[in-house]
Amino acid sequence: MLGGGNPAHIPAMERVWKERMKEIISDPAVLRRTLAIYDPPRGNPGCLEALAELLRSEFGWPVGPENIAVTPGGQTAFFLLFNLFAGRSTGGAADDGANSATGGVNGRILFPLMPEYIGYADQGLTPDSFTALKPNIEITGPHRFKYRIDFDHLIHNPSLRALCVSRPTNPSGNVITDDEMNHLAKFAAQHDLPLIVDNAYGWPFPGILFEEGSKKVSPLWTDQTIHVMSLSKFGLPGTRTAFVVGPPEVAAAIASMTAITGLANGNFGQAIAGPMIKSGEITRLSRDVVRPYYLEKRDKALAAIDEYFPDEAPYFVHECGGAMFLWLWIKDSKRSSKEIYEALKKRGVLVVPGEYFFFGLQDKDWPHHHECLRISFAMDDHDVREGIRIIANELFGN
Ligand SMILES: Cc1ncc(COP(=O)(O)O)c(C=O)c1O
Repeated sequence: MLGGGNPAHIPAMERVWKERMKEIISDPAVLRRTLAIYDPPRGNPGCLEALAELLRSEFGWPVGPENIAVTPGGQTAFFLLFNLFAGRSTGGAADDGANSATGGVNGRILFPLMPEYIGYADQGLTPDSFTALKPNIEITGPHRFKYRIDFDHLIHNPSLRALCVSRPTNPSGNVITDDEMNHLAKFAAQHDLPLIVDNAYGWPFPGILFEEGSKKVSPLWTDQTIHVMSLSKFGLPGTRTAFVVGPPEVAAAIASMTAITGLANGNFGQAIAGPMIKSGEITRLSRDVVRPYYLEKRDKALAAIDEYFPDEAPYFVHECGGAMFLWLWIKDSKRSSKEIYEALKKRGVLVVPGEYFFFGLQDKDWPHHHECLRISFAMDDHDVREGIRIIANELFGN
């Protein structure tokens, strides 16, 4: 199973959850607050204050609880954000040809770099809510490549309502560089567009970012940025807890949407992680446990690719700066990635065909769509290695 997006079960983290659960259960007041009391729709006030303090002290961001709203996972946060900004509106913006028959403007979210997270693809409530840019492809070394944002084609048009990037990116493991982020932020400021940054794998938790030294990425805060931070890849996907951090009016809108759609959020994730956010333990565990765990898995997966894939074969692996996936590009592949997926499935190996991760693009005929596979390395090391061996054999007869 190299196809899923479930985070790994890290033994040291499982011990932490067990301890936290014991603490919650052994304190009647905490247990009651967790199980038997509705939180305000925006989230638990103590948890919001703790996260604001963490972001001020870790990153120097000028934020308070008024900048934050809790959602049931990042997935819901994106649904709320995309439909808050995109979709049909009436009047105001100029006509760019995207107007509906009724005269409303169809506002869109721009993904400046495809491929992007598959989970966004069907979230727009109106058709045509998304638009995207094809990346530039840079060969970075033998069998390695990196996507770069094609800034020559980053052009404003009046239907744009927001930009969105995941950093690190699922599926490619790409980490948009600080330069690229600054460029996007400048564009967003110029046109007064929100810049949504999906930190599902980023700082301050779970911190599954591998670059060090000068290549290390900096979290960016501007008047336009909206960060989404989730507890899922820190190890708590079952609690469905994420935080939207942005301008107060955006956090307030998300809180209102939660009140309408769900009344309040689940308390458990905040009850487990709240004290860890307050003490800073969450960043320590991210740095000292979660990040090294995935880094080792990434290195083993890359070593297996180097070992099993023939050197003369026309394959490239995306530079994996973070997250839990290798993104494999089989250049000029005779079979589409869906066909390769089917063949691998018959041999007991599940991966995700790349075409699903390219959405919102004008150029539907770009062959690159059909030449990529996403391989998760979050699973057991032996399974990952064996899976990679079978993939090499299926692709190149090796
Ligand atoms: C890039 C990215 N964003 C968001 C999510 C949604 O995660 P969750 O709703 O569990 O926070 C995922 C899950 O895999 C993801 O990979």
